[in-house]
Amino acid sequence: MKKVYLETFGCQMNVSDSERILTQLESGGYQITDDETQADVVLLNTCSVREKAEHKLYTRIGQIRKTQTNKNSVLGILGCVAQLEGETLFKKSPAIDFVLGTKAVGRVANAIETAFNGNRNFVDLSDREADYDWSVAASQRHSPFVGFIPIIEGCNKFCTYCIVPFSRGREKSIPASEIIRQILILREQGIKEIHLLGQNVNSYRPINDSSLANFKGATAFSKLLRAVAATGMERVKFTTSFPRDFHPDIVDAINENENLCDWVHLPVQSGSNRILKAMRRGHTIENYLERIDKIKKSERKISITTDIIIGFPNESLQDFRDTVKMFEYCQFAGAYIFKYSPRPGTPAFNMIDNVSAEEKNERFLELEKVQRFTQQKIFQSYLNRSVEVLAEKISVKRSGQLSGHTTCQKVVNFPGAKDLLGKIVSVEILESKSNTLYGEISSRKQ
Ligand code: 5AD
Ligand code: SF4
Repeated sequence: MKKVYLETFGCQMNVSDSERILTQLESGGYQITDDETQADVVLLNTCSVREKAEHKLYTRIGQIRKTQTNKNSVLGILGCVAQLEGETLFKKSPAIDFVLGTKAVGRVANAIETAFNGNRNFVDLSDREADYDWSVAASQRHSPFVGFIPIIEGCNKFCTYCIVPFSRGREKSIPASEIIRQILILREQGIKEIHLLGQNVNSYRPINDSSLANFKGATAFSKLLRAVAATGMERVKFTTSFPRDFHPDIVDAINENENLCDWVHLPVQSGSNRILKAMRRGHTIENYLERIDKIKKSERKISITTDIIIGFPNESLQDFRDTVKMFEYCQFAGAYIFKYSPRPGTPAFNMIDNVSAEEKNERFLELEKVQRFTQQKIFQSYLNRSVEVLAEKISVKRSGQLSGHTTCQKVVNFPGAKDLLGKIVSVEILESKSNTLYGEISSRKQ
């Protein structure tokens, strides 16, 4: 039996693609291994969102090649770098045997066979099969208790800095009937939490209303949220939301359904209207704050997290100050702060990357400090309160402890035995650090 080793970089969509790739390969007779040295097939599912992520790929190819025992093994590059670079990858690294684009992952077994048959320059960048199988085998899920379900692929927004519309193509929504079918299967298999995935989940627009007709909602996405809530899945999370398409009815749907979790990830990218315009985000800071206010006014305590880019071309000190001011207003429970990275092929690549590396670094550290302060305050507000936690895994940092997430997506560690894994437990919070809460079980729900 040939052994396959797969490594995944980047976002949850890549993690989700990898689950399906492994599902297919396992059912096609391959053995999945997590030992790269023993593999006959090495697959790297790549990310191109920032330059650093892309560089990591070449470093990993070198490292893996050195340690492999089977010198006739094949190496395939999948995902966003594969889609963007195509056959130029063979020139960049002669170790590569095949390149498979973001929509070609359903044909990975074919690519591997082609390579073993001696064609070591195989490229497939074409579209998904009409009958592509979205299901994931229980053995290949990234977590035995949390399921990832893509609901919309690609992106039509073309923010000027972003490579995603090029690496993942145009938006395409998965039919609601298929989404609901999968959720019901996962529920039967004991999955406690699902994440509806998409670059912009709230731009969800299926070609027909099947499975949604009986649900109210101002948009197809809020109908879908209500339909998904009705499956009875214990916890439903969704990410990422696009500010312009964030209809207030999403908050109403959350308020109406306890199993829709109290967490919204709403990337803002900048606090300055001038920069938002240059980024072509399609929202102003005033629109964004309206959404934030609606979420904060909810009868539920909904956590808001965001993404932000520091040092976009022409970002002045005043623009950056506006970003800091906006952070202070929004009080995000979490923020991914990125330094602007020019991506070839995007409109912003033609602008001068004129905020110096030192300046980007200083702004990054300042915003990080502001965010850490806010986060500490928010995390401390959980002290001596009970939160519901899905026990997902054994903690790697503290022995004898389990680790999981709250419905508001905070990580909680607590002492507990292995038999609690997969259960939702009430944990009283006794200690807080900037990214993790610690506590003790107060009761067990199921
Ligand atoms: N440079 C820096 N950050 C970027 N992101 C996307 N493109 C770039 C880029 N060129 C960030 C955005 C997005 C997150 C996934 O990555 O903040 O929301
Ligand atoms: Fe990129 Fe903008 Fe699309 Fe998000 S919405 S994936 S930032 S183009």
